Amino acid sequence: MRFSKIVGLGHHVPETVITNAQLSAMMDTTDEWITERTGIKERRWIDPAKDTVANMATKATRLALKRANLTEKDIEFIVFATITPDYFFPGSGVLLQRELGLEGIGALDIRNACSGFIYALSVADQFIKSGMYKTILVVGAEIQSTAIDATTRGRNTAVIFADGAGAAILQPADKPGILSTHLHSDGRFAEELYVRDPGSSRPREERQPEQILDTTHFKVVMNGNQVFKHAVVRFMEVINEALNANSMKKEEITLLVPHQANLRISQFIQEKMALRDDQVYNNIMRYGNTTAASIPIALSEAWGEGRIKENDVICLAAFGSGFTWASALIRW
Ligand code: UT7
Repeated sequence: MRFSKIVGLGHHVPETVITNAQLSAMMDTTDEWITERTGIKERRWIDPAKDTVANMATKATRLALKRANLTEKDIEFIVFATITPDYFFPGSGVLLQRELGLEGIGALDIRNACSGFIYALSVADQFIKSGMYKTILVVGAEIQSTAIDATTRGRNTAVIFADGAGAAILQPADKPGILSTHLHSDGRFAEELYVRDPGSSRPREERQPEQILDTTHFKVVMNGNQVFKHAVVRFMEVINEALNANSMKKEEITLLVPHQANLRISQFIQEKMALRDDQVYNNIMRYGNTTAASIPIALSEAWGEGRIKENDVICLAAFGSGFTWASALIRW
């Protein structure tokens, strides 16, 4: 039997740091409110003159390749998770493929928001197991700052969402590797966290330039309370599902890397599962919520800090827009 394993991790975040104090100057909010409700102290915003989703992904990929002792030419397929592609279409997968100079290889885009990276990892895992590809690049990258309403009107989301990219390289292995992945969705809650435009549900007569200027076009709509309540339940469920599928106990988790949605959500899970501080990785304090990029950035940082070693059991879990939720259990 053939399995897949992660052989390299990399990440890239934009240089510009935006602190809570800076946001307080743009809108009616405070460092206290943001810290207390979300745990976020600062986040990164891109420089629109320099950064794109695809070029941040390229930088994250180059680091992952270097750490894996591989080169661009080894990559046979790209799975790219983002809800903020550089263009509405085509997706950013082909732009990354172009920047890496890999003309001709396949590039698949995944649009599962905060769960996107785990969905992408799961797809790549199946392609490796089936023998279709030997080296797959899995990326999560987002630029959310350009869509943020940085006024008091948009404060419930503007203080949370931010930019960044993370990458993982997958290759075959004789033993796992990726032990299992678990994917879920419930579209009844699609409008609890969504951006309607430029969706095709908007009638043509509402798409005229003068109307776009003074409607809610492109605005992130989030019912934070509702999302929070579902998140804490689904995170726990999907982590337990992964443990049960592998007959493992929570004590065997070396490191839980949850999607960085809100520090309060991570702390809630940690408390409910009675995990020690060293068993949970959080970096939302420094980067905010980077949606599909949050797990690969956190994984790459944790690996860089020596928190992930051979044979460790790593659990990834995510919840977000859709609603979608997912987990992955990995033997490093
Ligand atoms: O990435 C995956 C998906 N996202 C999540 O998992 C997010 C889940 N939800 C959350 O993290 C929390 O719901 C938030 C952090 C978004 C909000 O925290 P909350 O405790 O649920 O606040 P709330 O939305 O109930 O708002 C409480 C008050 C409101 O004022 P009133 O109506 O009580 O006067 C808001 O207008 O806080 C106000 N508020 C703010 N005040 C200062 C909302 N945003 C801000 C802000 N600064 N940035």
